[in-house]
Amino acid sequence: MKIAIGADHAGYRLKDEIAPFLLSLGHELVDVGCSCGDSVDYPDYAVPVCDKVVSGEVERGILICGTGIGMSIAANKTAGIRCALVHDMFSAKATREHNNTNVLAMGERVIGPGLAQEIVKIWIETPFSEGERHKNRIHKVMAIEAHQS
Ligand code: RB5
Repeated sequence: MKIAIGADHAGYRLKDEIAPFLLSLGHELVDVGCSCGDSVDYPDYAVPVCDKVVSGEVERGILICGTGIGMSIAANKTAGIRCALVHDMFSAKATREHNNTNVLAMGERVIGPGLAQEIVKIWIETPFSEGERHKNRIHKVMAIEAHQS
């Protein structure tokens, strides 16, 4: 799978631990940065990752900041993005099965690299359930974008 990954200064270390893990699983990565601890703004990294997902250049996106909250808020402003902030394995599986999320957000200041890798693996490998009730709810969520544009 082709995946875009991005982080701010509070998340780049976790990004740089997850990136080789994803490569070791056979995935292809587009890393939009950042790559050092100089202060940056998380929307500047959320937007290019989400744009690549929406355009189809990549299938999924992963965003990391200190808490994951700023990245998830920014990501969900992009039409076509369903981003979940996840810090546990149950939610990683559920958000793929129920919400068909295409972007995952995590916080480097919240979880360690071991749990983050488990979450990423589950989130990447779990398919959408295709359940009609879940499709209906997703369509209702996506209709909010159309209503507001
Ligand atoms: C940066 O200090 C921090 O605010 C940012 O990484 C993120 O946690 C925001 O939601």
